[in-house]
Amino acid sequence: MDTKKSVEALQFFTTGLTRGAFVHKLQGQIFKSQGFTKLGQKYIDHFTEEMGWVEQFVNRILDLGCEVKAEEMKGEQLISNPVDYIKADLAIQVAGVDLLYKCMETLREDPTTYDIMKGYLKDEEEDLYWSQEQLELIEKIGEQNWLIQQL
Ligand SMILES: [Fe+2]
Ligand SMILES: [Fe+2]
Repeated sequence: MDTKKSVEALQFFTTGLTRGAFVHKLQGQIFKSQGFTKLGQKYIDHFTEEMGWVEQFVNRILDLGCEVKAEEMKGEQLISNPVDYIKADLAIQVAGVDLLYKCMETLREDPTTYDIMKGYLKDEEEDLYWSQEQLELIEKIGEQNWLIQQL
């Protein structure tokens, strides 16, 4: 088993997902402040859920006897319009899931890390379907009606 490969992937997603989760939290607070309490809470809860995955990645790095790093994270432009944010997040999710699929191939010799990453991938796919569903709903019922559901 190539521990280095596993740790590289785990560290990559530790930093990337922490950053992504933090953005969800900030976006959630922005939507809540606009009165879209339901949507805001959804993203705030999403932060907590995703940090649970980060915790598992970090534990796995430590279990492998390696060092975990607190890496620098790049900034992100926040989006105040909820619909625009869902669209932007969907684009990130599509790229992210694609990357995860590729990453899984490098983890085949490490079933434990593979299983953690597989669980995370399943979760991310569900998030992606949720975003797609919302955009379809907006298309069908109109932006105003959809926004009313997010109050
Ligand atoms: Fe996310
Ligand atoms: Fe997620």
